[in-house]
Amino acid sequence: MTPHPRLGFSHIRGRWEDRVPTPRQAISCFTGGMNTTGSATTTGGRSPVIVERAGIWDAEAVADVAAATFPLACPPGSTREDIASFVDETLSAERFGDYLTDPLRIVFKACLDGEIVGYLMAVDSPPTDPGIRATITASPSVEISKLYVLPGAHGSGVAAALMDAIVECARSRGRSGLWLGVNRQNGRAQRFYAKQGFTVVGSRTFVVGTQTHADHVMQRTL
Ligand SMILES: CC(C)(COP(=O)(O)OP(=O)(O)OC[C@H]1O[C@@H](n2cnc3c(N)ncnc32)[C@H](O)[C@@H]1OP(=O)(O)O)[C@@H](O)C(=O)NCCC(=O)NCCS
Repeated sequence: MTPHPRLGFSHIRGRWEDRVPTPRQAISCFTGGMNTTGSATTTGGRSPVIVERAGIWDAEAVADVAAATFPLACPPGSTREDIASFVDETLSAERFGDYLTDPLRIVFKACLDGEIVGYLMAVDSPPTDPGIRATITASPSVEISKLYVLPGAHGSGVAAALMDAIVECARSRGRSGLWLGVNRQNGRAQRFYAKQGFTVVGSRTFVVGTQTHADHVMQRTL
């Protein structure tokens, strides 16, 4: 693995399970050198990436990142109105307030220099859609419902750090896999997930406003 010029290596230290998030408590995920025992250090004056469980107090800031990044995952042809309606209905600060207090959901935030630059939201319950339930072979499996990083942090290791966090969390809960839906035209995300060990196992549709999009369903066994 080659360190990113600005951010270096990303690494998660510690276990995520049962860490009750408390305001401003930093659970470490630093870029920089990493020793063989798995603890992390910052080296070379690089900015640390800190990944931690988001709390209710983060609802507004995570919603801001969600609103800024959701359009990046929409295929060409998506209308401004449809995107705005999805953001209003699904990604508002109020909705994140609900997500962040839902015991079945896990939200990680990634911070650089104190600012949230990405987030991951997972759902730790069986898929409700019977078609997807039949498609996912790893059981029990955690759904990665959202994984979004601001464009300035793409290619930096931030997304991989968020993925590391959910992998460790799912493993610590004894889950057998992760699954997600990704738009068929979202080549970058598909490439990222493939690098992370996901394979396409099926398909689904995903409604954004008045439009119905075609998604691949991808799975990674743990
Ligand atoms: C998806 C996302 C989290 C991935 O994080 P990232 O930091 O961009 O991922 P990486 O840079 O490690 O990997 C992306 C890979 O796609 C490649 N890539 C870039 N543009 C691409 C394209 N149009 N088609 C295919 N691959 C592409 C990159 O070169 C890289 O591959 P490489 O490492 O082999 O060179 C991030 O891009 C993102 O937040 N995108 C917008 C929101 C989104 O689409 N979220 C996913 C919803 S399912």
